[in-house]
Amino acid sequence: MPKPKPLFVTERLSCRCWFLQDLQALAEVYGDADAMRWVGDGIAITPDECRNWLAVTENNYQTRGYGMFALEDRVTRVVVGFCGLVHPGGQIEAEIKYALKRKFWGRGLATEAARALLAYGANTHGVDYVIATTAPENAASHRVLLKAGMAKGQLRRDEDGSYTQLFEWRPAGSPNAA
Ligand SMILES: CC(C)(COP(=O)(O)OP(=O)(O)OC[C@H]1O[C@@H](n2cnc3c(N)ncnc32)[C@H](O)[C@@H]1OP(=O)(O)O)[C@@H](O)C(=O)NCCC(=O)NCCS
Repeated sequence: MPKPKPLFVTERLSCRCWFLQDLQALAEVYGDADAMRWVGDGIAITPDECRNWLAVTENNYQTRGYGMFALEDRVTRVVVGFCGLVHPGGQIEAEIKYALKRKFWGRGLATEAARALLAYGANTHGVDYVIATTAPENAASHRVLLKAGMAKGQLRRDEDGSYTQLFEWRPAGSPNAA
């Protein structure tokens, strides 16, 4: 398979657009019920939903120029996980997302990816305000966001009575930067 052009690289990771061969890795990460308990509605997604997400992401590349991406180990080219900037339900603010295969947790990789993704979004696509929506219990994700330079925001009460811990980010030097 030809080596796809990286969107950005970090010390250990290379980030690229999704392609069909990512379905298996997508199912591994987002089909992991325990890992997904604090992601979205807390329910692991099915292979069919992964396939649909691939199509939605392709459309996001066409319309916005960005969306969800794959993270590869720079040396082995193994997919370690996914990250991206998305606008769920058409919301105005870009929202940062990330999830790694379980065997790659605890090495600082999500932080490395999130930091570089924020810079990529701002420098390449002019995305100068990014939020994160997290479960209040997702302490590992909160650490990632803080280490990536995001600021802790409101604890929002949602319509169903649950809570969402918000984070926000603006590029350094802009008014109200974190
Ligand atoms: C959240 C996730 C991306 C973190 O990936 P990672 O590569 O392990 O993250 P990092 O190594 O960069 O940083 C994790 C930080 O959280 C800390 N941490 C890990 N588990 C923790 C826990 N249970 N409680 C508190 N802190 C925890 C780590 O110690 C580290 O902080 P430190 O550097 O200050 O020690 C990964 O666990 C994952 O994919 N989870 C499932 C998907 C998910 O929750 N995505 C975020 C949705 S908002």
